[in-house]
Amino acid sequence: MRDNFGRVVDYLRLSVTDRCNLRCRYCMPAQGVDSLGHGQILSYEELLRVAAAAAAIGVRKIRVTGGEPLVRKGLVEFIGRLAALPQRPEITLTTNGMLLAQYAAPLKQAGLSRVNVSLDTLRSERFAQLTRRSGFEQVLAGLTAAEQVGLAPLKINMVPIAGVNADEVADFARLTLEHPWEIRFIEFMPVSGDLDFPPESRFPADDIIAAFSSVAPVKVIPRQGSGGVARLFRFAGASGRLGVIPAVSHHFCHECNRLRVTADGRVRPCLFSDDELDLRTLLRSGVGDEELHRFLRHAISAKPEKHHIGEEDFRPGARPMQGIGG
Ligand code: GTP
Ligand code: 5AD
Ligand code: SF4
Repeated sequence: MRDNFGRVVDYLRLSVTDRCNLRCRYCMPAQGVDSLGHGQILSYEELLRVAAAAAAIGVRKIRVTGGEPLVRKGLVEFIGRLAALPQRPEITLTTNGMLLAQYAAPLKQAGLSRVNVSLDTLRSERFAQLTRRSGFEQVLAGLTAAEQVGLAPLKINMVPIAGVNADEVADFARLTLEHPWEIRFIEFMPVSGDLDFPPESRFPADDIIAAFSSVAPVKVIPRQGSGGVARLFRFAGASGRLGVIPAVSHHFCHECNRLRVTADGRVRPCLFSDDELDLRTLLRSGVGDEELHRFLRHAISAKPEKHHIGEEDFRPGARPMQGIGG
C-alpha cells in the first residue's frame, strides 16, 4: 500500500524482544535499560497476527529484529510460521551473531532467507570494549555457519565511530575482496539522547568512501529499484560488495518503504520519531481482522515525510535503538 507521500510500504520490521546479550555503547546507555516484562511484549501468536495482517495489506518482506532476536525462546519455530504465511513473504533476520553458530542451520531449515549480522570491529579486545561483553570468536563462528548453510547473501552491518572503530573501515572493506559478503557501513544515528558520543564521533559517509579508496579504487554499483537503504560500491574483481547507509547525511526518507513494530507492540511509523500507535491494546481487545488491517493502513498513512535530524529543533527520542530494532 502507498502512504500519503506516494511511497509503497511493503517492508515490516518486527522486533520480537528488547533483550540483548550484548550492551553496545552506541545502542544502550551505560546504566543499561530496564527490560520489558513478559506481559508487555507481544506473544508469538500476537506477532503472527500482525505479520499476517501486514502480509494481507501488501507487506512482502518481514525482518525480525530485537534487541537480539535469537535470545527469545522459540524463535526458530516462529520464523517457520512466518515463512508459511499464505503470501510467502521474504523472512529475514538482523542479529548480533552471538548465537548464530548454533541456530544458522535450523533457521535456514525453517525458511529464513538471509541474515544481517552486526559487527563493529575485527579485534577481539575492542569487541569487548564496544559491546561491554566478550564473544568476538562466537560471532565469527556464526558468520561461518551462516555462510555454510546458505543464508546468503550475508550482510554485515558496521557502525564506524571516530576515535572508537572508524580506523577499521578499510580492514572491513578488504574482507569483500575474498568473501561474497555485503559489508555495510552505517552512519551513527542519534536515535536516543543518552548515549555517550559527542558530535565529534560522527564519521560521515564521505569519510567512509574515502577509506574505501585507500584500499583500492571503487566503482559505484547502480541502484536497482528502490527500498534498499545502502548506496553500493565494489572493488574491481572483488567477490563482495560495500554499502554505505548515510542515514544522517543524505537521508533516504523519500524512498522509505517500512513500518516498524516494537517489542511492546507499538507501531512506529518512523525510526526517528516517538509518535507511536498502540497496537498491543488493540490486539488484546479482541479486534477482528478487518479492523486490524484498517489500523495498519492508518499507521502507514501516519508516516511522516522525513526525519529532522540536523535541524535546529530536532530532539532525539526517548526509546533506545535496542527497543526499536534498528
Ligand atoms: P536489507 O533487507 O538487507 O536491505 O536490510 P536493512 O538494511 O533494511 O536492515 P538492517 O536491519 O540490516 O538495517 C541496517 C541499518 O539501516 C540499521 O542501522 C538500521 O537502523 C538502518 N535503517 C534501517 N531502516 C532505516 C530507515 O528507515 N531509516 C534510517 N535512517 N535508517 C534505517
Ligand atoms: N546508529 C546507527 N546504527 C545503529 N544500530 C544500532 N544503534 C545504532 C545507532 N545509534 C545498528 C546496529 C544493527 C542495526 C540494526 O542497527 O549495528 O546493525
Ligand atoms: Fe544488542 Fe544490537 Fe544494541 Fe548491540 S546494537 S546492544 S547487539 S541490540
